Amino acid sequence: MGAFPTPLAAFGLVYAIMFVKGFPEEAIFNVMSYGAVGGSNTDSSQAISKAWKAACNSKTKSSTVLIPKRQTVMVKPILLSGPCRAKSITFMVKKNRDFPLMIKSFLEYYLSSGRCKLSQINGVIVAPTSPKEWAGTDKSLWLAFKGISRLSITGSGIGKIDGRGTGWWNQSCRDHPSLEGRTLIAPTATKIISCNDTNLSNLHFINSSQAHVLLMECRRTEIKNLVITAPESSPNTDGIHIHSSHNIIIKNTTIGTVIVMNR
Ligand SMILES: *[C@@H]1O[C@H](CO)[C@@H](O)[C@H](O)[C@H]1NC(C)=O
Ligand SMILES: *[C@@H]1O[C@H](CO)[C@@H](O)[C@H](O)[C@H]1NC(C)=O
Ligand SMILES: *[C@@H]1O[C@H](CO)[C@@H](O)[C@H](O)[C@H]1NC(C)=O
Ligand SMILES: *[C@@H]1O[C@H](CO)[C@@H](O)[C@H](O)[C@H]1NC(C)=O
Ligand SMILES: *[C@@H]1O[C@H](CO)[C@@H](O)[C@H](O)[C@H]1NC(C)=O
Repeated sequence: MGAFPTPLAAFGLVYAIMFVKGFPEEAIFNVMSYGAVGGSNTDSSQAISKAWKAACNSKTKSSTVLIPKRQTVMVKPILLSGPCRAKSITFMVKKNRDFPLMIKSFLEYYLSSGRCKLSQINGVIVAPTSPKEWAGTDKSLWLAFKGISRLSITGSGIGKIDGRGTGWWNQSCRDHPSLEGRTLIAPTATKIISCNDTNLSNLHFINSSQAHVLLMECRRTEIKNLVITAPESSPNTDGIHIHSSHNIIIKNTTIGTVIVMNR
């Protein structure tokens, strides 16, 4: 070997520096590795909680809790909270990882030529269908994030958060004022409470029991590329609620949830 390091040695050196520094820049916490079971009727809440705790406590620049592609996980009401040791944390309802750019452009070329079809089903989170699952818990929550800084909740444009709210709609006091057991409060699909520097993007919110997204006491939030839908017949399924918050930007978001007055 001459006076100058070969590329391999240089690579080794960089690797050694990373190794000595002792912690990775980025870590992925796949919920399936924490015991999540695919399927819309098996509870994966514990696994999500565990993956969240591991991601939050990891001393990385960025930690990601991943609901991988082609997986549907059912989650009961859950509160994921900070503060986290990870400098930033991502909750990703998404395909595993993007193809490297070259392969991706080749694939796009190949696909656009119509010779092959790549299935693009991505991660989905679904709620329990029965309101009974909320017995003894806060009925205003389903997926809640609290006291976190630099949180990003994202999908790949196809990732879904499905509140499966029909059971709640069927007993809402608005539509069934004389029903025994009617409910005034139903869960908001995603609540983000006391969080600074949050991004919420590239997700499809469907059929929440009540409002789909709520921000409370948040600073600097960017919401973009959301599609929020619930049928015309659903009561009180608002798109996005914002309370006591500062610097909230909403871009490129389509909300199709309808309240029909004077029924
Ligand atoms: C958010 O910012 C406010 C004001 O700077 C601060 O009081 C609060 O502790 C921050 N919250 C988090 C979760 O970092
Ligand atoms: C949020 O998105 C902005 C770009 O729009 C980026 O600069 C910032 O780092 C993102 N924050 C998180 C927590 O991912
Ligand atoms: C809600 O009511 C509709 C119409 O009565 C019924 O078809 C549906 O099964 C009910 N859904 C649930 C989850 O109870
Ligand atoms: C949303 O709820 C309506 C009414 O129950 C149902 O027809 C529709 O299929 C649901 N949408 C999805 C994407 O599940
Ligand atoms: C706007 O959001 C939709 C839905 O997520 C997405 O398909 C589209 O690419 C977005 N447009 C831009 C300019 O980002």
